Amino acid sequence: MNFPKAETFPQSVMRERSMGPNPLKLCEELLAYADIPAGSVVLDLGSGAGLTSALMAREYGYVVYAADLWSDPSVNMRFFEGCGLTNRQVTPLKADATALPFAHGFFDAVVSVDSYNYFGRDPEYLGERLLPLVKRGGELLFAIPGMACDCHDDVPACLLRSWTPEQLDYMHDMSWWRANIEQTEGAEVLDMREMACTREAWADWLECDNEYAAGDRAAVEAGALTYLNTIAVRLRRR
Ligand SMILES: C[S@@+](CC[C@H](N)C(=O)[O-])C[C@H]1O[C@@H](n2cnc3c(N)ncnc32)[C@H](O)[C@@H]1O
Repeated sequence: MNFPKAETFPQSVMRERSMGPNPLKLCEELLAYADIPAGSVVLDLGSGAGLTSALMAREYGYVVYAADLWSDPSVNMRFFEGCGLTNRQVTPLKADATALPFAHGFFDAVVSVDSYNYFGRDPEYLGERLLPLVKRGGELLFAIPGMACDCHDDVPACLLRSWTPEQLDYMHDMSWWRANIEQTEGAEVLDMREMACTREAWADWLECDNEYAAGDRAAVEAGALTYLNTIAVRLRRR
C-alpha cells in the first residue's frame, strides 16, 4: 500500500513513538474509508505518544484533541511543536476514555487507533460515554487489534509465546465486535472490514527498539499473524 501522509514522518520518529503496529499507516488507511473534511474537530482517543494526532492535524488539517490515559500531555505537546504544530491545531490532554471532559455534541468525529479494545469491550461504553460527545451525523473510526476468528477456548501455542490468555482477552473477531457495537442505539454501522496494512504495520512495529516490540517478536515469528488482524470500524451517529 502507499502511505504518502504517514511517510511524511521519518522512520526514526515512527519507531520512537509507536506503541504498537505502525499507527500512522493504520490511521491513514482508516481515514481513506472516511468522509471527514479538513477543519473538522476530531478526538484522537487513546492517542498514545501522539503520532496519529500529529498526522491528522498536519496532513489532514483537522483540529485535534489528543486524549490519552498513560501518556504525558506535556511530552506530547513538545512533540507536536517539533512537528510544526501549534496549540490551535492540537490539544494534548490526559483523560480517561470512560470519563471524557467534553460537552455533548462537541466533536465532528472520533478516531481511535489500537486503543478501543482497552475500554470499548464494555457494550455500554459506546452509547453511554462516547457517542453523546459526537455531533449527529459525525463519524467514529476505530482500528482495533483483533482476531481472524475468536480462539480463546483453544489458544494457538504461537500466541502464548508473547501473550497470556488474559492479555488475549482484549482481542476479538469481527462478529464479536459487530455484536458489541450493533446493540448501541444511535450508532449506525457504515462499514467493518479487515485492514489491508496489518502485516506491514506489524513489520514496522517489530523493528522498533523497545521492550514491548521485542516481547511481541516471538509470537509473530512463530506465526501469530495467521490468527490476528486489525478490524476497521466506521460508524455514524444518527
Ligand atoms: C497500544 S497503545 C496505542 C497508542 C497509540 N494510539 C498508538 O497506536 O501508538 C494503547 C493506548 O490506549 C490508551 N488507553 C488505555 N486505556 C485508556 C483509557 N481508559 N482512557 C484513555 N486512554 C486509554 C493508553 O494510554 C495507550 O496509550
